Order: sequence, then C-alpha cells, then structure tokens
Amino acid sequence: MHLYLSPKRWTPLLGSAVCIKVWGMNTLNLLVRKDALGTTQIQTAPTLPLPTGQVRVRIERFALTSNNITYAAMGDAMQYWRFFPTQDAAWGRIPVWGFGSVQESNHPLLEVGEKLYGYFPMANTVDLTPGTISPAYFFDIAPHRAELHPVYNQYMRTSVDPFYTADTEDLQALLRPLFITSWLIDDFLADNAFFGATAVPGQRAQLLLSSASSKTAYGTAFQLAQREGVDVVGLTSPGNVAFCESLGCYSRVLTYDQLDQIAPDAPCVYVDFAGNTTLRKAIHTHCQQLKFSSSIGATHVSEMGGAKDLPGPKATLFFAPAQIKKRSAEWGSQGLGQRMVQGWRKFAAHVAQPGSAWLVVAQHQGPEAVQAAYQQVLAGKGDPRVGHMLSL
Ligand SMILES: NC(=O)c1ccc[n+]([C@@H]2O[C@H](COP(=O)([O-])OP(=O)(O)OC[C@H]3O[C@@H](n4cnc5c(N)ncnc54)[C@H](OP(=O)(O)O)[C@@H]3O)[C@@H](O)[C@H]2O)c1
Repeated sequence: MHLYLSPKRWTPLLGSAVCIKVWGMNTLNLLVRKDALGTTQIQTAPTLPLPTGQVRVRIERFALTSNNITYAAMGDAMQYWRFFPTQDAAWGRIPVWGFGSVQESNHPLLEVGEKLYGYFPMANTVDLTPGTISPAYFFDIAPHRAELHPVYNQYMRTSVDPFYTADTEDLQALLRPLFITSWLIDDFLADNAFFGATAVPGQRAQLLLSSASSKTAYGTAFQLAQREGVDVVGLTSPGNVAFCESLGCYSRVLTYDQLDQIAPDAPCVYVDFAGNTTLRKAIHTHCQQLKFSSSIGATHVSEMGGAKDLPGPKATLFFAPAQIKKRSAEWGSQGLGQRMVQGWRKFAAHVAQPGSAWLVVAQHQGPEAVQAAYQQVLAGKGDPRVGHMLSL
C-alpha cells in the first residue's frame, strides 16, 4: 500500500478549509450476499479521485451487533441495502455505526482530521456528500440516500457532540444507537400509561422483554426498572439466563419455555426484540390480559415471520421516529436531546463502571478478523457480554 500526500492547499476565500489528496490507498469492503447472509467476500478496489464537494472518511472502527444482522435480513423490505450500494446488486454492504475521520476533503468547510460519528458501510473508507454544515452535524445528501430516513444520513461532529467522550468510543458505537431506541421505547410505554397494564387494581404490570440478553433489550430494561409499579421480566435462551440475571435490571428472568411461570391473568405488555413467531403466539395465547404487543426487532432471524392469527392485541411495529416527533413537539428538540443525553450518561456510567458485568469489548482488526467476527455475530450464539468492535 502506498500513501502519497500532496502539499496542503488552502482555499483562502473560504477560511480555514484544507484540502489534502490521498492517492494509492485501496478501498476494502466486506460484501455480503443478500440472499445468503453467511456468504461474504472482501472486495479490494483502487481508490478513485474524490469528486468536488465530497469528503472521504477513513472508517476507524465500527460496532457489529444483531441489530446490523437485522438490517441485512430486512435489507430489501426496509431499504437498508440502499444506503451503501454496490456494483453487483446480489451483494450488499451492511450498515454499521461507528467513528471515522475525514481523510481527504473536497469540501470547503470540512477539514482533514475531523472526527465523525455515524452510519457507515462495513468498509475502510466511505465518500460522503455533505449538505449544509451545522456546528454539530451534517447530512449526507447523496442522491441515492435522499429518500432514506434522515436519522441514518446524519453525521455528528464529535468535537461538539454531547454524547461524545474520547475514552468511550467503543461504548458509544456499540450502545448509543441501541440505547436511543431503548430510551424511546421506555418513554413511549410510559407516555401511553403502559396501555392500561399498570391500572389493574391489586396487580403489578408485567413487562415481558424477549431476547433479554440483547443490548437494546437490556437498555430498555435499565430504563423501565426506574419506573414505579412494573415488573420487568426478561425472556431469554437457557445459556443467557445467568448473564441477564447478573445485570440487575430484570425483576426476574425466564427461559422461553417457562412462560407458565407468568400468571395468565397478570396485566402484561410484550416488548419483542426476538421477532420469533412461535414465541409471540405463545405469549399472546398464555397472557390473557396482554394489553399491548410491541414489535421491535428480530434477533431470532431464522424464526421471524408474519403476525397473523394472533390472540389478543395486534403486534404493533415500534416506530422510533414517531415518538421523537411527538416529544420534539412537546419538549422542543433541545429538550428531548437533553433528556436523552442525561439518560445516556447514566446508562453509560453504569455499564462502564469498574467490574461492570454488562460489556466487555473485543477488537477485530483486518479482513480475516472482520469476516470471522461477522460470522460469529450472524450465528448469534456468542457471549452476550462481548461487544464486537471491527476495523478493516
Ligand atoms: N426498531 C428499532 O428501531 C430497533 C433499534 C435498535 C435495535 N432493534 C432490534 O433489536 C434487536 C436487538 O439488537 P441488538 O443489537 O441489541 O442485539 P445483540 O445485543 O447483538 O443481541 C444478542 C442476543 O440476541 C439473540 N440472538 C442474536 N442472534 C441470534 C440468533 N441467530 N439466534 C438466536 N438468538 C439470537 C440472543 O439473545 P437471547 O438468547 O436472549 O434471545 C443474543 O444473546 C435487533 O433485532 C435489532 O434490529 C430495533
């Protein structure tokens, strides 16, 4: 690999912007076959000249969790493949959350070296087309992303990002996008008075969370556990019971075949991270006072399917942007942001405290290690305590 740096060029009319050209560096992509997610290849391509107005970001590190596998599994239905298209439509680049730095800039307001947090492909670099640059963030306005949800097109400038601290990048990449959802689920349920589950005289509401060992579920449990009058029940596979119990945010933890330990007449809400159709049907059948059924994820990727012929309430897809919109209208976007940051700081401090049981970070560097880590996360049988950070 040859790295060639041209002399710095100043663009005096536009202040301090610096343009540095980097030639000769290969682009590395992890490509996944869209119809067979276990089939991957590393694509190496020569780096092309960067068009005017764009920035080339060196993707330094990114997290890989089941959330990213769900992006791939729903890549066509939910348009996740469209963020980072490939030349061959049979192969896709899975979006991931992570950090990168501007490596080359043909944009007058973004300097080489600026660190960004956002949505990247599983690659070593990505070219972005920044729109209006605000002090805190910009959006990628590339035409192929124009119709996609703005939340994924936003890149945070870490120098002013209230979530950012330099020593917690792994924690942020692994947990931040998931915790935002967790925070919103908790807020949504409380905002709707738990759909009546907390209003049944003499009975405590049972909030049932599947895939309780997942980061999004335990972030939700962490939030819900701070509420009065609810029991947060974690449902998980036998091998992950001890982990879920060690977190201390579940009132109790049951395996998927222990639903009989939930009183059939207890008022319940089901918060579904597993997306397992058989389990969903069993819960809807067993819990006669199921007040609400919220569909969040699909970690049990091989068991996901439709929600037809369900007893009780219909399974309702949780749409985080709707709750963001509602709260932004009520609290203002600044008020919402402040509450989220406050929630994040409390959660992150809890997870990061010395001797914490929640998260141990495993680093995977280079093409082979990245492919191996991907296979591990896809199989889904790993230690839920381990969070995988990857770099190509
Ligand atoms: N709707 C939204 O806006 C939104 C936002 C964020 C996340 N989510 C969803 O929430 C889910 C959790 O994501 P995460 O990143 O937090 O997960 P994670 O931490 O990687 O979860 C790992 C856990 O998921 C289960 N699992 C994973 N792969 C599996 C497999 N192949 N077979 C069986 N079980 C498997 C296991 O839990 P158990 O043994 O406990 O089942 C495992 O311990 C994802 O489906 C994600 O898409 C949705």
